[in-house]
Amino acid sequence: EKITLSVIKADIGSLAGHHKVHPDTMLASTRVLAEAKKNGLLIDYYVTAVGDDLQLIMTHKKGVNNKEVHETAWNAFEEAAKVAKELGLYAAGQDLLSNSFSGNIRGMGPGVAEMEFNERPAEPVVVFMADKTEPGAFNLPLYKIFADPFNTAGLVIDPRMHNGFIFTVLDVYEGKALDLSTPNDLYDLLALIGTPSRYVIKYVHRKDGEIASTISSERLSLIAGKYIGKDDPVMIVRAQSGFPALGEILEPFSFPHLVEGWMRGSHAGPLMPVGIKDAKMTRFDGPPRVAALGFNIKNGNLVGPSDLFDDVAFDETRRQAQIIAEYMRRHGPFMPHRLGPEDMEYTTLPDVLKKLENKFRPFELGYKPIIKHELEEIK
Ligand code: F6R
Ligand code: MG
Ligand code: MG
Repeated sequence: EKITLSVIKADIGSLAGHHKVHPDTMLASTRVLAEAKKNGLLIDYYVTAVGDDLQLIMTHKKGVNNKEVHETAWNAFEEAAKVAKELGLYAAGQDLLSNSFSGNIRGMGPGVAEMEFNERPAEPVVVFMADKTEPGAFNLPLYKIFADPFNTAGLVIDPRMHNGFIFTVLDVYEGKALDLSTPNDLYDLLALIGTPSRYVIKYVHRKDGEIASTISSERLSLIAGKYIGKDDPVMIVRAQSGFPALGEILEPFSFPHLVEGWMRGSHAGPLMPVGIKDAKMTRFDGPPRVAALGFNIKNGNLVGPSDLFDDVAFDETRRQAQIIAEYMRRHGPFMPHRLGPEDMEYTTLPDVLKKLENKFRPFELGYKPIIKHELEEIK
């Protein structure tokens, strides 16, 4: 029988800035999911948090995009947001863009990654959750996991993976998708996903049609038309026996690659893998962090999790991430640390620049600087 794994997240407000989810809000949403489990809608659930994002990990038999499941998640976020408001938490309710649920949570604010599959006798999965970055931040690791034989030995050694994978790439500006088959289309794939702010890997399938990975692709800035928060992403990856091994899935995260996000959603910084206990945002509201929980799914039950980056094996990566954070920060407001205007999540810089617009005047050699109050004096 088919099982669906749904990971739905939202920023419903956090403690001391866009920093860390308050445990009372997690409790409030847990109550809603517990009720849904009792009623038989959910088989199992696990509630956690990364930075200012509340994470609902749920299993059920309703398939992806199911109204009842999405409504349950929505209610869980609303209950959490109520508590956030009571406690006076910062940005309480920020990702709940609509006041009432309309049937599908997509496009409303929360981020969604879901997959339906026939449960294998052993079904290991990894749930990745990142804060202060965007869905395209997973492009580079996904490429390495599913298409780079220097990362994934199984692409060379395991006959079930040797044929490669199919990547579905979403153009988040146009809302269009394209399927590319590796290894044949490798260079086309890279030509797109190297622009992670626009082209986002949405699914990876094995050539026999089995789903291997799914990524949330919501971009809040495009949903709401103006900045209301980062679209911090989540991703599910299936592991082992015909899929990449757990260690092949984690390996790309040993490189703290530069991602877009960080302070005010407007800076490039290293993606630092951390355990849940360190999944809070401090330095310059970051640096961007990713946590990974490993589960086994049995009869739809979530066995685990194991907090995968809470491990000395990633200490050196974290140290490198600190060095990169230091290096990037030294640029202050200069690009490419600060993102280009089209990639900044804050759409407020144009407002700041607007008041300079009329002050521009023609330039020629011999140009003498004048500022307004001096002009007044001359008159
Ligand atoms: C970025 C983020 C934070 C905030 C920053 C300013 O995704 O959440 O870096 O952008 O703390 O927040 P406001 O504008 O709410 O004061
Ligand atoms: Mg926030
Ligand atoms: Mg966040």
